[in-house]
Amino acid sequence: MDKPADTSVSLHPLIAARWSPRALDPAGEVGEAALRALLEAARWAPSNGNTQPARYLVGRRGDDTYRRIFDTLRRGNQSWAGAAAVLLLACAVTENEKGAIPHADYGVGLASENLVLQAVAEGLVAHQMGGFDTDAARAAFALPADVRPLAVIAVGTPGSPDDLPDDRTRAKELAPRTRLPLDQVAFTGEWGRPAF
Ligand SMILES: Cc1cc2nc3c(=O)[nH]c(=O)nc-3n(C[C@H](O)[C@H](O)[C@H](O)COP(=O)(O)O)c2cc1C
Repeated sequence: MDKPADTSVSLHPLIAARWSPRALDPAGEVGEAALRALLEAARWAPSNGNTQPARYLVGRRGDDTYRRIFDTLRRGNQSWAGAAAVLLLACAVTENEKGAIPHADYGVGLASENLVLQAVAEGLVAHQMGGFDTDAARAAFALPADVRPLAVIAVGTPGSPDDLPDDRTRAKELAPRTRLPLDQVAFTGEWGRPAF
């Protein structure tokens, strides 16, 4: 299912096509070359002073890392994310030899958007989740004190909304994607005065 962004001017097709589906094919595969490309895309994201705070734990369906990441998810996310071929735990390294890394979380967000857009380029879908237990993630992977788990990202191939576990999840899947209008997002001169 496609849910392209509704925009006032045309966007790059990758950006227009990206969305966060919950219906994933439980038999869908993510090849090793594609998975490597996703992580390379993340690796080449910009970061404050090139501090490169983003790290990923990579779980492939059936392996122990996947199971441990899955177990940290909130129940609502577990209801659909188990069909993903890959589960990633996105983390921020918050300190380096100079002290606290500035804007570490921002850096992980940039890296993860690179990763998600590369997934679209590979013909895959990716869905980021903040709904997971960060303490459980810390414990599951014995994360060092200076590492902050930030999100789980499900990567896979599209499935059918008919296979989603309940009506509420199916309704979310089928609902239109919405955004604030541009005149509430981009300002000029003073706060709140539309730039367009
Ligand atoms: C940081 C972050 C956390 C999110 N957490 C969840 C989540 O726990 N469960 C979920 O189903 N979707 C989650 N999402 C997906 C958002 O709901 C989704 O990106 C948003 O509704 C916009 O829809 P779109 O990505 O299809 O454009 C999250 C997205 C981000 C960026």
